Amino acid sequence: MRKIHIVTFGCQMNKLDSELAAEALADAGHAIVDDEFAADTVIFNTCAVRDHAEQRVVSRLAQLIPRRLANPNLRVGIMGCFAEREGKALLEQLPHLDFAVGTRQFPNLPGIVDALDDKPGLFGPDDRDAPGIHQAHPRRRHRGMHGFVSVMRGCDNRCSYCIVPDVRGGEISRPAREIALEVKALALAGAREVTLLGQNIDAYGKRDGGSLAKLLRLIDLETKDSGLVRLRFVTSHPRDITRDLVETVAEVERVCPHFHMPAQSGSDRVLAAMRRGYSRSEYDEKLAMIREILPEAGILSDFIVGFPGETEEDYLATRDLVERARFQNSFIFKYSPRPGTPSAETMADDVPPEEKKRRNNDLLAAQHAVSEQRAAEMPGRRLRVLVEGVSPRDERRWVGRSGENHICVFPAPPAGEDWSGRLVDLEVERATPLTLYCRVINA
Ligand code: 5AD
Ligand code: SF4
Repeated sequence: MRKIHIVTFGCQMNKLDSELAAEALADAGHAIVDDEFAADTVIFNTCAVRDHAEQRVVSRLAQLIPRRLANPNLRVGIMGCFAEREGKALLEQLPHLDFAVGTRQFPNLPGIVDALDDKPGLFGPDDRDAPGIHQAHPRRRHRGMHGFVSVMRGCDNRCSYCIVPDVRGGEISRPAREIALEVKALALAGAREVTLLGQNIDAYGKRDGGSLAKLLRLIDLETKDSGLVRLRFVTSHPRDITRDLVETVAEVERVCPHFHMPAQSGSDRVLAAMRRGYSRSEYDEKLAMIREILPEAGILSDFIVGFPGETEEDYLATRDLVERARFQNSFIFKYSPRPGTPSAETMADDVPPEEKKRRNNDLLAAQHAVSEQRAAEMPGRRLRVLVEGVSPRDERRWVGRSGENHICVFPAPPAGEDWSGRLVDLEVERATPLTLYCRVINA
């Protein structure tokens, strides 16, 4: 039996994979420990989406060298996207790295960990999904009231900058009924909010005549009286968001009006070079469609600045999109060429680092100004909020989230009352871009 600690980098899918890996290891008799220093086995679940994400793992691995020298029993492994991309090379370069497991092979971790004392240096990338990659273990697999369920893995889009299709493979959707049963089981085990995950979730089931809209309706039907309060889904590709989906979100009460719909750029020229499959005006139309049906929906976007060939004019088109679209928030990244991707292989990374940084900061400032304007419009608004519990920052306050995913803080309930997991109605009194301070209307 080993004492295993898993450190997770990257996206929600990686967090879920860490949970699934932890369960498989616990089922095999290992102990999962929260304290890295109490562990005799440390596993990094890695991300490859930008060079920075990989470098962070490299430096964390280097930090473990002295520990390994002091404790020869310590075992170190990597899993996830960077492991898939570079696992073999890292095993050769880093003598204290014991194993690397590809993105579709982590369910095999128990066997790999068991064999560690005999044959270190295992590597398991494989084109096929290991059995159990989606396995539901709803007994343990939720933190407090949140649960995550993968509905599809991989991605068939070929955005020119993106490593995901290389490290996670092509799109594979799970059967709808299996997903619905897993959501239900999570809810029966105590989850109040379940987030469905997919790299390109609105392409769910398309190949077999299904759709995300149908899946949401099926889950809604199957989870009546299960205790489930809310359903979310991420991440949406703007091209694949349909009116049917948005209408379904509007009609099915438990589905949250919240879309993470990355634009990546506001310039047609850059969008074409990125092979995103939509133009600026098509993106604007999708936004308008969502707001027509769900005026208050929370909409988030991602942007890449400094893509090869991005001129000042292209950048200004992106800033114009941020200012006009008034996103709830934007995640902004500097372009990072990923080996083997079309943009890295065929286009020069020609925007100088200081210019990428300037555009990054300028776009952050534009989004911040939007967020401040939006916050100023919030006081007086009423929101239905799923209570999470005591605020980690202030014991006298409690915290929850609205369907649009606003973080709402409100005075603690009367002593002895536990409102967590309950829906309450709040009125916003004061707002900052990240937090709404509210009073309780109805609990
Ligand atoms: N360089 C910079 N950012 C990237 N992203 C994806 N690939 C790259 C890259 N090569 C960003 C996109 C995506 C988010 C998860 O990461 O904005 O939506
Ligand atoms: Fe990073 Fe993408 Fe892998 Fe998630 S899927 S861990 S974002 S490379």
